[in-house]
Amino acid sequence: MLDIRRNAGGTGADVIGLDLSRPLSDKDFSTLFTALGEHSLLRFPTQSITPADLRDFSARFGMLQKGLSEKGPYEPGVPEVSILSNIVRDGVPIGIGDAGQDWHTDMSYNQLVGFTNVLYALEVPHRDGKALGDTLFANMYAAYDDLSNDLKQRLEGLTATHDFNKFWEEMRRRPGSARAPLTPQERAKRPPSVHPIFLTHPITGRKVLYCNPGYAIRINELPEKESDELLDELFRHQLQEKYVYTHRWTKGDILMWDHISTLHNAVADYGPHEHRLIKRCQVMADKVFDQAFVRDVLGATATVSAQS
Ligand SMILES: [Fe+2]
Repeated sequence: MLDIRRNAGGTGADVIGLDLSRPLSDKDFSTLFTALGEHSLLRFPTQSITPADLRDFSARFGMLQKGLSEKGPYEPGVPEVSILSNIVRDGVPIGIGDAGQDWHTDMSYNQLVGFTNVLYALEVPHRDGKALGDTLFANMYAAYDDLSNDLKQRLEGLTATHDFNKFWEEMRRRPGSARAPLTPQERAKRPPSVHPIFLTHPITGRKVLYCNPGYAIRINELPEKESDELLDELFRHQLQEKYVYTHRWTKGDILMWDHISTLHNAVADYGPHEHRLIKRCQVMADKVFDQAFVRDVLGATATVSAQS
Protein backbone atom coordinates (compact mmCIF):
# COMPACT_ATOMS: atom_id res chain seq x y z
CA MET A 1 0.00 0.00 0.00
CA LEU A 2 1.42 3.37 -0.99
CA ASP A 3 1.93 5.95 1.69
CA ILE A 4 1.52 9.47 0.27
CA ARG A 5 2.61 12.16 2.72
CA ARG A 6 1.65 15.69 1.85
CA ASN A 7 4.27 18.39 2.44
CA ALA A 8 3.62 21.15 4.92
CA GLY A 9 2.50 24.17 2.91
CA GLY A 10 0.30 22.22 0.53
CA THR A 11 2.53 21.79 -2.54
CA GLY A 12 4.07 18.37 -3.12
CA ALA A 13 4.05 15.01 -1.39
CA ASP A 14 6.47 12.19 -0.60
CA VAL A 15 5.58 8.74 -1.88
CA ILE A 16 6.86 6.02 0.44
CA GLY A 17 6.82 2.30 -0.23
CA LEU A 18 7.38 2.15 -3.98
CA ASP A 19 10.45 0.71 -5.70
CA LEU A 20 10.52 2.29 -9.16
CA SER A 21 13.00 -0.29 -10.48
CA ARG A 22 10.05 -2.71 -10.53
CA PRO A 23 7.13 -2.54 -12.96
CA LEU A 24 4.33 -0.28 -11.78
CA SER A 25 0.95 -1.96 -11.19
CA ASP A 26 -2.15 -0.43 -12.74
CA LYS A 27 -3.48 0.28 -9.27
CA ASP A 28 -0.35 2.15 -8.20
CA PHE A 29 -0.25 4.02 -11.51
CA SER A 30 -3.83 5.23 -10.91
CA THR A 31 -2.93 6.35 -7.41
CA LEU A 32 0.15 8.25 -8.62
CA PHE A 33 -1.64 9.85 -11.58
CA THR A 34 -4.37 11.15 -9.28
CA ALA A 35 -1.88 12.25 -6.61
CA LEU A 36 0.22 14.13 -9.18
CA GLY A 37 -2.78 16.23 -10.18
CA GLU A 38 -3.72 16.83 -6.56
CA HIS A 39 -0.26 17.59 -5.05
CA SER A 40 1.53 18.88 -8.21
CA LEU A 41 4.87 17.24 -7.20
CA LEU A 42 5.67 13.72 -6.06
CA ARG A 43 9.02 12.78 -4.53
CA PHE A 44 10.13 9.14 -4.39
CA PRO A 45 13.12 8.98 -2.03
CA THR A 46 16.00 6.47 -1.95
CA GLN A 47 15.51 5.03 -5.43
CA SER A 48 18.07 3.05 -7.41
CA ILE A 49 17.00 2.56 -11.02
CA THR A 50 18.43 2.18 -14.51
CA PRO A 51 17.86 4.66 -17.38
CA ALA A 52 15.53 2.08 -18.96
CA ASP A 53 13.51 1.93 -15.69
CA LEU A 54 13.24 5.73 -15.73
CA ARG A 55 12.03 5.64 -19.33
CA ASP A 56 9.51 2.87 -18.70
CA PHE A 57 8.06 4.50 -15.58
CA SER A 58 7.78 7.91 -17.28
CA ALA A 59 6.17 6.46 -20.42
CA ARG A 60 3.15 5.33 -18.38
CA PHE A 61 2.17 9.00 -18.07
CA GLY A 62 2.43 9.99 -21.74
CA MET A 63 4.57 10.29 -24.81
CA LEU A 64 8.24 11.00 -24.10
CA GLN A 65 9.95 14.04 -25.55
CA LYS A 66 13.39 14.19 -27.05
CA GLY A 67 15.47 17.36 -26.66
CA LEU A 68 16.06 20.22 -29.02
CA SER A 69 19.24 18.76 -30.47
CA GLU A 70 18.96 15.28 -31.89
CA LYS A 71 22.62 14.84 -30.94
CA GLY A 72 21.89 14.74 -27.22
CA PRO A 73 23.29 14.65 -24.63
CA TYR A 74 21.36 11.50 -23.93
CA GLU A 75 21.81 8.29 -22.08
CA PRO A 76 23.57 5.92 -24.51
CA GLY A 77 20.97 3.60 -25.99
CA VAL A 78 18.07 5.32 -24.19
CA PRO A 79 17.46 8.55 -26.12
CA GLU A 80 14.33 9.37 -24.08
CA VAL A 81 16.55 9.98 -21.04
CA SER A 82 18.48 13.23 -21.20
CA ILE A 83 21.35 14.19 -18.94
CA LEU A 84 21.48 17.41 -16.93
CA SER A 85 24.96 17.98 -15.59
CA ASN A 86 27.86 20.41 -15.21
CA ILE A 87 30.39 17.56 -15.36
CA VAL A 88 33.00 17.78 -18.12
CA ARG A 89 34.89 14.61 -19.10
CA ASP A 90 37.95 14.84 -21.33
CA GLY A 91 36.93 18.38 -22.22
CA VAL A 92 33.40 17.37 -23.25
CA PRO A 93 30.30 18.29 -21.19
CA ILE A 94 28.39 15.09 -20.42
CA GLY A 95 25.04 16.86 -20.13
CA ILE A 96 23.09 20.10 -20.48
CA GLY A 97 24.71 22.43 -17.96
CA ASP A 98 22.24 25.30 -17.75
CA ALA A 99 18.82 23.69 -18.09
CA GLY A 100 15.84 25.60 -16.76
CA GLN A 101 17.57 28.34 -14.82
CA ASP A 102 14.67 30.77 -14.72
CA TRP A 103 10.91 30.57 -14.17
CA HIS A 104 9.08 28.67 -16.88
CA THR A 105 6.79 25.75 -17.70
CA ASP A 106 8.28 23.10 -19.96
CA MET A 107 6.95 22.98 -23.49
CA SER A 108 4.20 25.56 -23.08
CA TYR A 109 5.52 26.71 -26.48
CA ASN A 110 4.31 23.46 -28.01
CA GLN A 111 0.81 22.92 -29.26
CA LEU A 112 0.87 19.69 -27.24
CA VAL A 113 2.25 20.98 -23.94
CA GLY A 114 4.32 19.14 -21.36
CA PHE A 115 2.56 17.17 -18.62
CA THR A 116 5.28 16.02 -16.28
CA ASN A 117 9.04 15.85 -15.86
CA VAL A 118 10.59 12.90 -14.07
CA LEU A 119 14.07 13.65 -12.67
CA TYR A 120 16.43 11.19 -10.99
CA ALA A 121 19.24 12.67 -8.87
CA LEU A 122 22.54 10.79 -9.07
CA GLU A 123 24.90 13.50 -7.84
CA VAL A 124 23.88 16.50 -5.74
CA PRO A 125 26.46 19.23 -5.04
CA HIS A 126 27.02 20.28 -1.43
CA ARG A 127 28.87 23.15 0.24
CA ASP A 128 29.35 23.46 3.99
CA GLY A 129 27.00 20.53 4.48
CA LYS A 130 24.17 22.15 2.54
CA ALA A 131 22.79 20.76 -0.72
CA LEU A 132 22.99 23.12 -3.69
CA GLY A 133 21.00 23.28 -6.91
CA ASP A 134 17.49 23.43 -5.45
CA THR A 135 14.51 23.42 -7.79
CA LEU A 136 11.78 25.95 -7.03
CA PHE A 137 8.11 25.45 -7.88
CA ALA A 138 5.24 27.94 -7.93
CA ASN A 139 1.71 26.62 -7.40
CA MET A 140 -0.66 27.80 -10.13
CA TYR A 141 -3.81 26.46 -8.47
CA ALA A 142 -3.19 28.91 -5.62
CA ALA A 143 -2.15 31.69 -8.00
CA TYR A 144 -5.43 31.31 -9.93
CA ASP A 145 -7.56 31.08 -6.80
CA ASP A 146 -6.10 34.34 -5.44
CA LEU A 147 -6.66 36.42 -8.58
CA SER A 148 -9.23 39.18 -8.10
CA ASN A 149 -12.69 38.51 -9.49
CA ASP A 150 -12.11 41.44 -11.83
CA LEU A 151 -8.97 39.84 -13.33
CA LYS A 152 -10.63 36.42 -13.53
CA GLN A 153 -13.45 37.97 -15.55
CA ARG A 154 -11.16 40.04 -17.78
CA LEU A 155 -8.95 37.07 -18.64
CA GLU A 156 -11.56 34.33 -18.90
CA GLY A 157 -11.54 32.93 -22.43
CA LEU A 158 -8.42 34.88 -23.46
CA THR A 159 -5.32 33.22 -24.87
CA ALA A 160 -1.58 33.76 -24.71
CA THR A 161 1.14 33.07 -27.26
CA HIS A 162 4.14 31.10 -25.96
CA ASP A 163 7.46 31.25 -27.83
CA PHE A 164 10.44 28.92 -27.24
CA ASN A 165 12.83 31.59 -28.50
CA LYS A 166 12.00 33.92 -25.59
CA PHE A 167 13.53 31.55 -23.01
CA TRP A 168 16.41 30.56 -25.28
CA GLU A 169 17.43 34.19 -25.74
CA GLU A 170 17.09 34.83 -21.98
CA MET A 171 19.50 31.94 -21.31
CA ARG A 172 21.89 33.20 -23.99
CA ARG A 173 22.15 36.57 -22.22
CA ARG A 174 23.52 34.85 -19.10
CA PRO A 175 27.25 35.35 -18.51
CA GLY A 176 29.25 32.44 -19.88
CA SER A 177 26.37 30.95 -21.87
CA ALA A 178 27.55 28.63 -24.64
CA ARG A 179 24.17 28.65 -26.40
CA ALA A 180 24.20 29.83 -30.00
CA PRO A 181 21.16 31.66 -31.41
CA LEU A 182 18.54 29.28 -32.74
CA THR A 183 18.91 28.71 -36.44
CA PRO A 184 15.89 29.40 -38.69
CA GLN A 185 15.52 25.61 -38.98
CA GLU A 186 15.47 25.19 -35.19
CA ARG A 187 12.96 28.03 -34.82
CA ALA A 188 10.79 26.48 -37.52
CA LYS A 189 10.75 23.21 -35.58
CA ARG A 190 9.35 25.03 -32.56
CA PRO A 191 6.91 27.66 -33.80
CA PRO A 192 5.01 29.66 -31.13
CA SER A 193 1.77 28.17 -29.84
CA VAL A 194 -1.42 29.57 -28.35
CA HIS A 195 -3.12 28.39 -25.13
CA PRO A 196 -5.93 29.65 -22.89
CA ILE A 197 -4.58 31.69 -19.96
CA PHE A 198 -6.81 29.69 -17.63
CA LEU A 199 -6.85 25.92 -18.03
CA THR A 200 -9.08 23.45 -16.27
CA HIS A 201 -6.80 20.77 -14.89
CA PRO A 202 -7.85 17.48 -16.50
CA ILE A 203 -7.19 15.42 -13.34
CA THR A 204 -8.61 17.64 -10.62
CA GLY A 205 -11.09 19.80 -12.55
CA ARG A 206 -9.60 22.85 -10.79
CA LYS A 207 -8.58 25.99 -12.69
CA VAL A 208 -4.95 27.00 -13.04
CA LEU A 209 -3.18 30.10 -14.28
CA TYR A 210 -1.39 28.72 -17.36
CA CYS A 211 1.02 31.47 -18.20
CA ASN A 212 4.73 31.79 -17.48
CA PRO A 213 7.44 34.43 -17.87
CA GLY A 214 9.76 31.99 -19.66
CA TYR A 215 7.67 31.62 -22.79
CA ALA A 216 4.51 33.78 -22.72
CA ILE A 217 4.95 36.81 -24.97
CA ARG A 218 1.49 38.15 -25.74
CA ILE A 219 -2.16 38.09 -24.68
CA ASN A 220 -3.61 37.78 -28.13
CA GLU A 221 -6.96 39.50 -27.73
CA LEU A 222 -5.56 42.71 -26.19
CA PRO A 223 -3.65 45.66 -27.67
CA GLU A 224 0.12 45.22 -27.27
CA LYS A 225 0.57 47.78 -24.48
CA GLU A 226 -2.28 46.38 -22.42
CA SER A 227 -1.01 42.85 -23.02
CA ASP A 228 2.50 43.80 -21.85
CA GLU A 229 1.17 45.45 -18.68
CA LEU A 230 -1.14 42.57 -17.83
CA LEU A 231 1.52 39.92 -18.47
CA ASP A 232 3.89 41.79 -16.13
CA GLU A 233 1.16 41.88 -13.51
CA LEU A 234 0.49 38.14 -13.90
CA PHE A 235 4.21 37.26 -13.73
CA ARG A 236 4.62 39.32 -10.53
CA HIS A 237 1.50 37.76 -9.06
CA GLN A 238 2.34 34.13 -9.84
CA LEU A 239 5.89 34.29 -8.44
CA GLN A 240 5.01 35.61 -5.00
CA GLU A 241 6.84 33.84 -2.20
CA LYS A 242 3.63 32.40 -0.78
CA TYR A 243 3.16 30.20 -3.88
CA VAL A 244 6.75 28.92 -4.00
CA TYR A 245 7.89 25.52 -2.76
CA THR A 246 11.64 24.68 -2.65
CA HIS A 247 12.76 21.15 -3.41
CA ARG A 248 16.16 20.44 -1.87
CA TRP A 249 17.65 17.45 -3.62
CA THR A 250 18.96 14.30 -1.98
CA LYS A 251 20.89 11.71 -3.98
CA GLY A 252 18.49 8.94 -4.95
CA ASP A 253 15.47 11.24 -5.20
CA ILE A 254 13.12 10.80 -8.09
CA LEU A 255 10.97 13.87 -8.41
CA MET A 256 8.09 14.24 -10.82
CA TRP A 257 6.03 17.37 -11.21
CA ASP A 258 2.93 18.47 -13.00
CA HIS A 259 3.62 21.27 -15.47
CA ILE A 260 -0.05 22.19 -15.81
CA SER A 261 -0.31 23.38 -12.20
CA THR A 262 3.25 24.64 -11.62
CA LEU A 263 6.08 26.83 -12.83
CA HIS A 264 9.64 25.82 -11.98
CA ASN A 265 13.11 27.33 -11.75
CA ALA A 266 16.46 25.58 -11.31
CA VAL A 267 18.75 27.46 -8.90
CA ALA A 268 22.32 27.70 -10.27
CA ASP A 269 24.16 28.31 -6.99
CA TYR A 270 26.94 25.71 -7.51
CA GLY A 271 30.30 26.04 -9.22
CA PRO A 272 31.82 24.07 -12.10
CA HIS A 273 33.61 21.72 -9.70
CA GLU A 274 30.54 21.12 -7.53
CA HIS A 275 29.15 18.30 -9.58
CA ARG A 276 25.50 17.76 -10.29
CA LEU A 277 24.11 14.84 -12.28
CA ILE A 278 20.43 14.37 -12.99
CA LYS A 279 18.73 12.10 -15.50
CA ARG A 280 15.45 13.30 -16.93
CA CYS A 281 12.42 12.22 -18.91
CA GLN A 282 9.99 14.81 -20.25
CA VAL A 283 6.43 13.57 -20.68
CA MET A 284 3.97 15.22 -23.04
CA ALA A 285 0.33 15.94 -22.18
CA ASP A 286 -1.20 13.57 -24.74
CA LYS A 287 -2.62 11.10 -22.23
CA VAL A 288 -3.61 13.63 -19.56
CA PHE A 289 -5.72 15.59 -22.09
CA ASP A 290 -7.34 12.39 -23.39
CA GLN A 291 -10.67 12.43 -21.55
CA ALA A 292 -11.34 8.71 -22.00
CA PHE A 293 -7.88 7.85 -20.64
CA VAL A 294 -8.31 10.10 -17.59
CA ARG A 295 -11.82 8.77 -16.93
CA ASP A 296 -10.48 5.22 -16.93
CA VAL A 297 -7.60 6.07 -14.61
CA LEU A 298 -9.69 8.11 -12.18
CA GLY A 299 -12.35 5.40 -12.24
CA ALA A 300 -9.72 2.85 -11.25
CA THR A 301 -8.60 5.11 -8.40
CA ALA A 302 -12.17 5.57 -7.19
CA THR A 303 -12.59 1.76 -7.17
CA VAL A 304 -9.36 1.38 -5.19
CA SER A 305 -10.48 4.03 -2.68
CA ALA A 306 -13.88 2.45 -2.24
CA GLN A 307 -12.27 -0.91 -1.52
CA SER A 308 -9.65 0.33 0.91
FE1 LIG B 1 12.20 23.11 -17.20
